[in-house]
Amino acid sequence: MSCKGPLSGYRVLDMTQFESGTVCTETLAWLGAEVLKVERPVKGELGRYSQANPGVDSYGFVVMNMNKKSITCDAKSPEGLALLEKLMKVCDVVVENMGPGSMDKLGLTYDRCKELNPKIIYASLKGFDQTGPYKDYPAFDPIATHTGVMVSATGLPEQPIKCGVSVADSGTGMTLAMSIIAALLQREREGIGQRVDVAMQDFMICLSRSQWEPFLNKGKPNRRVANGMPLEDVAPSDTYPCKPFGLNDYVHIYCSRHPGSKQWDNLCDVIGRPDLKQDVCPEMATPTSRFVHRDICDGAIKDWLKNYTKFEAMDILCKADIPAGALLDCEDITNDPQYQERGIIVEVEHPQRGKFKIPGFAPKMSAVKVEYECSPELGGSNEEVYGKLLGLSAEERSALKEKKVI
Ligand SMILES: CC(C)(COP(=O)(O)OP(=O)(O)OC[C@H]1O[C@@H](n2cnc3c(N)ncnc32)[C@H](O)[C@@H]1OP(=O)(O)O)[C@@H](O)C(=O)NCCC(=O)NCCS
Repeated sequence: MSCKGPLSGYRVLDMTQFESGTVCTETLAWLGAEVLKVERPVKGELGRYSQANPGVDSYGFVVMNMNKKSITCDAKSPEGLALLEKLMKVCDVVVENMGPGSMDKLGLTYDRCKELNPKIIYASLKGFDQTGPYKDYPAFDPIATHTGVMVSATGLPEQPIKCGVSVADSGTGMTLAMSIIAALLQREREGIGQRVDVAMQDFMICLSRSQWEPFLNKGKPNRRVANGMPLEDVAPSDTYPCKPFGLNDYVHIYCSRHPGSKQWDNLCDVIGRPDLKQDVCPEMATPTSRFVHRDICDGAIKDWLKNYTKFEAMDILCKADIPAGALLDCEDITNDPQYQERGIIVEVEHPQRGKFKIPGFAPKMSAVKVEYECSPELGGSNEEVYGKLLGLSAEERSALKEKKVI
């Protein structure tokens, strides 16, 4: 197996911040690209800072910025802009997720960057599409999940509830990475650079695509059903409490809504209630009738679950061909060695925080092994990038440092 990532040889100028953009460039870095993260001198990217531990990189920063090189540059100074323009010429891709108009204000418009490097892939991630009526609006993750359908479909009938993880941030970042790689492939074939734009709202609309089935069927938006089945009233489909009834001691059980499925009958065998099988009990005959009488079916499931943990329940049910998923939190995942063995959880060593475990890259490729590195120290690659890559002398570098340009 080769250890070289498929993107090795490509260089990315990374002008991203927080989660959405940084996840995009982290993905490119895991796949082997050389990612130069541009940060403000002294302070660094704002995501480095946390109120809990000022002066130490936030865990969030480490999670989003693995395998990158950090360089400092005050993009608002003329000397800093000149450095960025030089870098633009030796990079294949530039990625940014600043507020609307910020790149243009810096003088780094697409047209300017294309002038500097006609084959540049110029990738921008914004909250909203840059041609639409919301183009000037700022956005964090919940703004995108609210304006991109997802929250309208999530929560209780009378209360929309946002997702607890940043789906819009990380999802849009990953989709941007995918589009950048496609643009690089096109560049290989046709010799052209291009601009790639993605809006978090638009990504969320596309991610919410399953909502169009009920919308088209009923002519109105789907209802919210908490942990139930959104497409149809069927049972069992819920998140049930398990032994020992702690905060996250739950298992989700869902039996297929499709006719002919044996999953409910299998469940009846497992929980010792053959009297509730489809052919025996008229109330339990179909997924819909079970929903109408869900007090019976849910009651039987809850009685059985009193004796099992979520892990035991998941194992027993899945082995009997009943779809069931334990509610696993960060602690469960971090402490279960299987995730580390297959590289989903990886251990990093941070100079200030020591060793800890965080999520890695999900896909597996037969010819590639992702080698994980901790997020970079602020300006850790200044010498390499400004010295070796751009050819600035030690005197020039220390003068720029003195002036806080780098
Ligand atoms: C997320 C967001 C709302 C944050 O807004 P914000 O805190 O006001 O930050 P902005 O990105 O608007 O501004 C960053 C500023 O830092 C400046 N900056 C960034 N890097 C710099 C550097 N290396 N040197 C000097 N200045 C720098 C930018 O030029 C910009 O200045 P300006 O406001 O004068 O144009 C906004 O960036 C945004 O809408 N981004 C796009 C959507 C997105 O990615 N959201 C999710 C983030 S997880």
